[in-house]
Amino acid sequence: MQSQIVVFLCILVLGRAAIISNDCKTTQTLNERLMYDKRLIYMGEYFPLDYKIYVRYEEVLRCQNITNLINQGITVKELRYLWGIVNERVLFKIKEVLPGRHPSFGYITDLLSILKSFLPETEHQVDSEIINEVLVTLKKETETRKPVRPKALLDNCFKVFHLLYEEECRLCNPRSASEGETFCESSDCYQ
Ligand SMILES: *[C@@H]1O[C@H](CO)[C@@H](O)[C@H](O)[C@H]1NC(C)=O
Repeated sequence: MQSQIVVFLCILVLGRAAIISNDCKTTQTLNERLMYDKRLIYMGEYFPLDYKIYVRYEEVLRCQNITNLINQGITVKELRYLWGIVNERVLFKIKEVLPGRHPSFGYITDLLSILKSFLPETEHQVDSEIINEVLVTLKKETETRKPVRPKALLDNCFKVFHLLYEEECRLCNPRSASEGETFCESSDCYQ
C-alpha cells in the first residue's frame, strides 16, 4: 500500500517537473519496468530459492565497478554503452533458462525489447582501452562462470542504470525499505 502512495507522489512530482526530453522517455519506461516490486516478484518470488544463473565475471556490473571506472577517467557515455551491452547479455541469459509458460518469461521478453530499442541511444565510440578490453573479453569463449541469483542480476542492472541516468532524466525511485540498504547512492560513485 505504502509503496503505491510513494509511486503516486513520484508521478505527481514528475508531472510537475515539466518537459522531459524525448530521449528520456524510454529511460523512464525502463526505470518503471525495473522497479523493486517487479524485480522482487518476477526475479525473486517466481524462482526457486537459491536458484542461480551462471554468468561471466564481466557480466557482473555493479556500482562499485562504475566507481572504479569513473576514477580511471571513463566517461558516462562509455559507461552507458557498457551497461547496455552487459545487460542485454544478462537478459538473454535469464530468458534462456525460462520456459515459455513461466510467469517471468513475458516480463523478461518485454524488458529485452525495450532495452533493444534503447541500445542505439547508448551507442558510443569507445576510446577507452579499459572498456574495449572488457568488451573483447565478453565476446571470448571462456569457462569461467559465476553463479548469481536472477534478482541480483536485475538489481545490478537497475542500480547502475539509475546511477547513470537519474539526474539527466529525473528518474524517480520510490525506494522500498527493504532495498534501502542495498541501493547505491549516487554519492558513492561520484565523489
Ligand atoms: C566488476 O567487478 C568485478 C569484481 O571486481 C569483476 O569481476 C567484473 O569483471 C567487473 N565487471 C566489469 C564489467 O568490469
